[in-house]
Amino acid sequence: MKKTIYIVNGPNLNLLGTREPEIYGANTLSDVEMACDKRCKSRGYALSFFQSNIEGEMVDQIQKAGAKGAALLINAAAYTHTSVAIYDALKTLDIPVIEVHISQPAAREAFRQQSFVAPVSMGSISGFGTNSYLLAIDAAIDSLL
Ligand code: DQA
Repeated sequence: MKKTIYIVNGPNLNLLGTREPEIYGANTLSDVEMACDKRCKSRGYALSFFQSNIEGEMVDQIQKAGAKGAALLINAAAYTHTSVAIYDALKTLDIPVIEVHISQPAAREAFRQQSFVAPVSMGSISGFGTNSYLLAIDAAIDSLL
């Protein structure tokens, strides 16, 4: 049985903690990774945590999650709203996929209203700050029970 939760993060999330803290909060990406690692371990899973500013590298990691992961959480950041390549990659997976956002895109600019991730996800967790990741880990693991 596969026991690794994959998390893929998109562009500019490497700047968490300093990027628009009024929207994205004070936690850094490594804070998020540590909290996710702890949550996965407490539930008997390992974590693979990845960030890239490059769309194709995200596609490679999504394919790896499909081959080796129990579930995939993805915060595709701005590529959520633009990327057919990420949509196509997610569509090939037969593991649970959960869309994650720190902010609530539905309450923001019009260009954030479209998601190429949502139609190929089991569900979306948005708007809870970086706690969205932990809620999504629980949702992913619960869906595997
Ligand atoms: C985000 C929301 C996106 O609209 C934005 O482009 C991001 C971060 C979030 O986590 O709230 O970079 O995915």
